[in-house]
Amino acid sequence: MATTVETITQSLPTLSLRSNTGDGEAPSEEAYRYTHLLPFFSADTYPPLTPFEHVDPAARALTHPNPRSFLDNATSVVELTPRLGTEVRGVNLARLDSTGRDQLALEVARRGLVIFRDQQEFIDSSPEFYLEWGRHFGRLHVHPTSGHPEGFPELHLVYKDANTTFNYELDDSITPTVWHSDVSYELQPPGLTTFFLLAQPTTGGDTLFTSQVSTLKKLSPQFVAFLRTLKAVHSGIEQANFSRTGKRGGVVRRDPVENVHPVVRRHPVTGEEALFVNRQFTRRIVGLKKEESENILNFLFDHIDKSGDNQTRLKWSPNTVAIWDNRVTAHSAILDYGESKERRHGARITPQAERPIPALEGLELVDE
Ligand SMILES: [Fe+2]
Repeated sequence: MATTVETITQSLPTLSLRSNTGDGEAPSEEAYRYTHLLPFFSADTYPPLTPFEHVDPAARALTHPNPRSFLDNATSVVELTPRLGTEVRGVNLARLDSTGRDQLALEVARRGLVIFRDQQEFIDSSPEFYLEWGRHFGRLHVHPTSGHPEGFPELHLVYKDANTTFNYELDDSITPTVWHSDVSYELQPPGLTTFFLLAQPTTGGDTLFTSQVSTLKKLSPQFVAFLRTLKAVHSGIEQANFSRTGKRGGVVRRDPVENVHPVVRRHPVTGEEALFVNRQFTRRIVGLKKEESENILNFLFDHIDKSGDNQTRLKWSPNTVAIWDNRVTAHSAILDYGESKERRHGARITPQAERPIPALEGLELVDE
């Protein structure tokens, strides 16, 4: 898949880190438990992604007599909001069998976000395990610009410590909040997505989520009927250009792409309709005049931004694994820990799913 031109060990300036233990002494990097998962920027280049047939594991759970039986031994299952987000304790993801994983996929599709606490065994598993986990849910996406653990390009990392600002880029906006669905510019964007932190600041760095099923439902039937007829261009070009400026490791391993997706998509398993535009990657609505496109998109972005009644917020605690369905949710990092010298280190496993299915049957997904 990857054409290795050359691999350089362009270590981030992360290897002389300050202590976050409060005594001011910098421990050696070897003391960090997850050194093998630190970001690495290879000079590899990748060919374009090719289409593939996605078979959604959640569909298999539909025929199970009790599709939620993987939660039978949970000690706590709490719905964070009526429509979005469930927090689970007492289920060990690392021990979930194939049937349990299928059920998990269905639960995540229905709830948008499921948070599992106390997952030390999962997090302390090998990178090979992470990949095997992710492949159950789809073909693993390899990020075109991000750092990854050496030898594991399928693992997308976020990282900040006292000496680096990787993944902590601020411009002169009044807020760094940027709602998005991960890499939505791909022809087949991600479905079920797993993310966990290996290290985190004492406070700050929460993650915001919103239900794109709910954001759509709040709109009038007449307007939704119009939105169903629309398709929009999602672009990876700005992300690539940002990387080319030298930020985020400064590599672009695959040429950026733009793809046309329906503005309202249908989940392949639940059949639910969701709004599928986001401020980070959606650029214009196909076929509309510039002002029409800009005004409609800005209205939808504002609606996503400010509808707290559709949102929930994940406060990370050690050994938490968050799993969301990128087809029916959007999220934003919260960059409020800039003053902290503490390390924040996260890993994402990002299986791709189907090409987004238009809610309006027969909608042609071509640029005009
Ligand atoms: Fe994201």
